[in-house]
Amino acid sequence: MAAAADPRLIVPLDVPTADEARAAVERIGEAVSFYKVGLELFATDGMALARELKAAGKQVFLDWKLHDIPTTVERAAAALSGSGCDFLTVHGEPQVMAAAVRGRGRSGLKVLAVTVLTSLADADLKEMGYAETARALVERRIHQAIAAGCDGVIASPHEAALARALGGSDFLVVTPGVRPDWAAKNDQARAATPLAALRSGASHIVCGRPITAANDPHEAALRVVAEMAQAG
Ligand code: C5P
Repeated sequence: MAAAADPRLIVPLDVPTADEARAAVERIGEAVSFYKVGLELFATDGMALARELKAAGKQVFLDWKLHDIPTTVERAAAALSGSGCDFLTVHGEPQVMAAAVRGRGRSGLKVLAVTVLTSLADADLKEMGYAETARALVERRIHQAIAAGCDGVIASPHEAALARALGGSDFLVVTPGVRPDWAAKNDQARAATPLAALRSGASHIVCGRPITAANDPHEAALRVVAEMAQAG
């Protein structure tokens, strides 16, 4: 089966070492052009790996979820903007988002807001002092992300349509929790298929274990790419 990589497919490298990440990228091959480097790799040699992936012609999503005082976030985003990486996540508080947007300046680094962590239920938010439900807070923070100049948000497949409607056609809506019908759900309780996620407004999908844990990750990635092609 021959098919080009779909730049809307992002595969997370959720492994502890750069060597394991390199091995995963090698096994997936040309079927994927966009990788997410998260906190687990950040704790070892994530930035070195990110630069290596960029040098190999890949796109790189730095899922660092920055959250600090504005000066620190601005400086961190400015430093990361020099890496040539493509996406950076920050927590969806107005000060944090605006600082990251200032920091990345005119670079190509896109700032994506994490609105509300999906691990937080309404009861958790209440305990933290929020009067709103998770859904209402997500909506508020999408509005605030747009006002802060963010390029997009991280959204579950169930919030993708809302984010697309509020953000308009150029807004990035990056959706984890994606599972093809043929894959195990793992711990993704409310997963959507790649096609459903794209049809509900996602600009990019994050799909990990169905590809990385497959017997043949290259073939699994091509299956996901083929399903995505049906969305046009
Ligand atoms: O393997 P899987 O497709 O479940 O990986 C999903 C990736 O997206 C992981 O890196 C995970 O940390 C991230 N993520 C998620 N759910 C969210 C936010 C991020 O699964 N709500």
